[in-house]
Amino acid sequence: MLPLLGTDAKTNKDVNIPFHDVLPMVHPNDLVVGGWDISKLNLAASTLKAQVREEMAEMAPLPSIYYPDFIAANQEDRADNVLPGTKACNEHVEKIRQDIRDFKAANGLDKVIVQWTANTERFSDIIKGVNDTAENLLKSIEQGHEEVAPSTVFAVACILEGAPFINGSPQNTFVPGAIDLAEKHKAFIGGDDFKSGQTKMKSALVDFLINAGIKLTSIASYNHLGNNDGNNDGKNLSSQKQFRSKEISKSNVVDDMVEANSVLYAEGEHPDHTVVIKYMPAVGDNKRALDEYYAEIFMGGHQTISIFNVCEDSLLASPLIIDLVLVTEMMTRIQWKASYDGVATKDFKDFHSVLSILSYMLKAPLTPPGAPVINALAKQRGAITNIFRACVGLEPESDMTLEHKLY
Ligand SMILES: NC(=O)c1ccc[n+]([C@@H]2O[C@H](COP(=O)([O-])OP(=O)(O)OC[C@H]3O[C@@H](n4cnc5c(N)ncnc54)[C@H](O)[C@@H]3O)[C@@H](O)[C@H]2O)c1
Repeated sequence: MLPLLGTDAKTNKDVNIPFHDVLPMVHPNDLVVGGWDISKLNLAASTLKAQVREEMAEMAPLPSIYYPDFIAANQEDRADNVLPGTKACNEHVEKIRQDIRDFKAANGLDKVIVQWTANTERFSDIIKGVNDTAENLLKSIEQGHEEVAPSTVFAVACILEGAPFINGSPQNTFVPGAIDLAEKHKAFIGGDDFKSGQTKMKSALVDFLINAGIKLTSIASYNHLGNNDGNNDGKNLSSQKQFRSKEISKSNVVDDMVEANSVLYAEGEHPDHTVVIKYMPAVGDNKRALDEYYAEIFMGGHQTISIFNVCEDSLLASPLIIDLVLVTEMMTRIQWKASYDGVATKDFKDFHSVLSILSYMLKAPLTPPGAPVINALAKQRGAITNIFRACVGLEPESDMTLEHKLY
């Protein structure tokens, strides 16, 4: 991302520079990568890209936790690298915490940031007394309650360990109890679901169309994706409960833009919106997304926009995974002080545990309880740009460009 620094007074041209030249961000080359998987396959066996195969051949995942009820039954034959036990328990939390400490010490790291890039799980039921508060969630883990998902056990372990945790999949890993726990421990969390392909286009296009006065009346989104050694997402999503998680995270993406335009839409009115995902093994990692946007225009006329987007899914997600780590890491080092009526508050404070600044890279942005969800891509980008500008004493980008508009 290249934020605008300002306008060059001599040439009248914009000056854009990379974020890492504005703030002391970690360089991607300084990251050390490791992780867990329920499958023993080394990482070279899971990639089709020859450029990195040699390095990845030496990387074997740590054994992980596998609760069969949460991912598709068709994943069972992969599960040859699992810790004993098929439901949540304190031992699993402790083992993950120990793995994080060991990884940090073995590699001489300052910080560990964990991302869930594992299979989409089914949604967890939110049950009073089970996962609604931090205390209840910890008690449920201790007692082995079957409604606690593996991803939530990872989240809890990371929160207790002070390692930021980001959920790149669509399920509700962050049940209310997990968010409560993060707040209590002032640990950073972010989610949900990487915004790599269809939804990224949608959150930019819908923002543009609705703001241009074009009233979308239906959005139909079809996807088909396949399976190969490097990508097994489509296979997992061919199971109804796991697909449902994805369907939910993909569906709400236009809500705020529709609600914001009371000229086009009456209260409660919204476009029809359907999302379909089909498993088509032959296309491998080359996901196809077909979208039809149907809209009302001037004088009751109509417009249909059709998009056919073919993308290598993993290669779109991987840079997002790196960016999420870099921005999250930066946020762990930023503190703020407010000034009210010209009087500054005494102490510096951290950002809220729920890092909604990550929304730009996520399909179903998690926000602090009660905070609005922003899906519009430009607004999400503006939040990152302007918060980072503020860190170096620059005013928010106004885009007024008055210097070019006045005598
Ligand atoms: N563009 C993208 O690739 C993209 C975009 C948005 C979201 N996502 C989400 O990211 C996730 C990963 O996608 P993918 O294409 O890499 O999927 P994948 O199925 O190819 O890989 C997932 C890996 O997770 C492992 N796994 C399953 N359960 C586990 C557990 N409990 N602990 C540790 N490992 C476990 C599996 O063995 C597998 O190796 C999915 O939820 C997907 O929906 C991907």
